[in-house]
Amino acid sequence: MSTIDHTTNGTTGADDAPEGIEQFTLRLRRYDPESGEAAYYEEFEIELEPHRSVLDGILQAKAQEDGSIGIRCSCRAAICGSCGTRINGQPGLACHTHLSEAMARSKDGKITVEPMGNMPVIKDLIVDMDAVHWKKQARVTPWLLPSEPLPEREHIVPRESMVDVTQSMACIQCGACVSDCLSMEIDPLFVGPAALAKTYRFVGDPRDSRHAERLSNLAEDPHGIYACTHCFKCVEACPKGVAPMNQIMRLRRIASQDHHIVDRNNGERHEMAIVNSVKRYGTLNEAKMVPDSYGGPLHPAAAKELLSSLPVITTALLRRKVTPKSALFHHKLPDQDQIKRIYREVGEREGRLEFNLYVEQPDEDDTAPTSHAERAGADEGSASPTPSKGLTEAETAQKDA
Ligand code: SF4
Ligand code: SF4
Ligand code: FES
Repeated sequence: MSTIDHTTNGTTGADDAPEGIEQFTLRLRRYDPESGEAAYYEEFEIELEPHRSVLDGILQAKAQEDGSIGIRCSCRAAICGSCGTRINGQPGLACHTHLSEAMARSKDGKITVEPMGNMPVIKDLIVDMDAVHWKKQARVTPWLLPSEPLPEREHIVPRESMVDVTQSMACIQCGACVSDCLSMEIDPLFVGPAALAKTYRFVGDPRDSRHAERLSNLAEDPHGIYACTHCFKCVEACPKGVAPMNQIMRLRRIASQDHHIVDRNNGERHEMAIVNSVKRYGTLNEAKMVPDSYGGPLHPAAAKELLSSLPVITTALLRRKVTPKSALFHHKLPDQDQIKRIYREVGEREGRLEFNLYVEQPDEDDTAPTSHAERAGADEGSASPTPSKGLTEAETAQKDA
C-alpha cells in the first residue's frame, strides 16, 4: 500500500517549537470507496503537547493540512463513543489515547491510525456502525421489557441488582470490542461482544420479564452466546472496562444453571464436557470433547461431527499433536485430590456468586440472596434490606477464578 508523506512540509521543527510542544508523525490510513482507488497511508507531522490526544493530532492535521481527512468525533472526552479507531493496531478511542502513550507503543516512531475492523469503511477512519454494530444491538432488543401490569409507582429494585448491571451499563457503544472480535471475523453473523454485553444489562435486571426468552433465543442461535471463543480481545479492547466476554460467560451460566437451557448447538453440552474432563483428568481430554459435546460416543450427531472432523484429526495425527495412545489413554494430573477438593468446595456453595469489577468497597452485611435466580425472584415491591457484600478487586479475581 502506498504512502504519501507530508512530513517535510516546512512546518516548524521540534527545536523551534514552544516549550512542551513536540513533533509527532501521524500515519493515517486513507480510503474513499467512492473514488475507486485503493487505500493508502498518508503521513502528517503535527505539533502538540504529548499529553494531548491522538484525536487532537488528527484534528490538527485536518485543520492545517488536509480538510478531507475523515474522522468521526464529538465529545472529545471518552463519553460519546464516536472516535473508535485502531491506533498502532490496537482498538481504542482516539480522544482517550495520549500522543505519548501511542508513541510508546509505536514500533517505527510513527503513530499509525486506521479504521476499526469488522465494519465496512465509509471514508478514511469512519466505519459504517449501522451496517454491523447497531444492527447487532437491535438484534438483542436493547430495552427493558417489564412485566404487565406496570406498577402504579416506580419499580423499586434491590441495590445489588443494579450494582450487578453497572458494568454492562458503562458501555458507550464505541464498537472497539466489535472491531477486534475474532469470532466475528470468522462469523460475521455472530451477535458479538457489545450486543451480548447489552443483553446482560437486561438479563441482570429484575425488572425485565423476558430473561428466559432472551437467553433461550441467544443460546439456540448458532451465532449467539456459545459462538464466543473466549479470546479476551474484547476485554482488552474496551476502553470502559465493560469486559464483554465476562458478561457473555455470565449469560451462559444463567442460561445453563438457572434456566436449564440445553441448546441445539451443543453449547451447554460442550461446556459440561469441559467441566467433566477437567474433573476426571485435571486437564482437557481433547479426544473426548467431540463425542461428549454431542451426546456421547454412540449418538448419531457425535458420529456425524467426528466424520466431519476427520481432516482435522488426520492433520493432528500427522503432526503428532495427538497420538492414538494419548487419545485412548489420556493421562491424569498427579494430584487428583486437589482437583476433587476444588470441585467439592465450589459444588457445596449454596448460591453462585456473580462478581462485578465495579464493586470495590465492602458493605457490612453479606446475607443477601446471591444467585441470579434468587435476585430475579426477589420481591420487586420492597427494597432489599440486605445489600450484597461488595468485593475488592483482589477478592473478585480470586473468587472468579
Ligand atoms: S471473547 Fe468472545 S466476544 Fe470477546 S472478542 Fe473474543 S470471541 Fe469475541
Ligand atoms: S463494550 Fe466497551 S468496547 Fe464494546 S462498545 Fe461498549 S464501550 Fe465500546
Ligand atoms: S470523541 Fe467522544 S468518545 Fe472520543
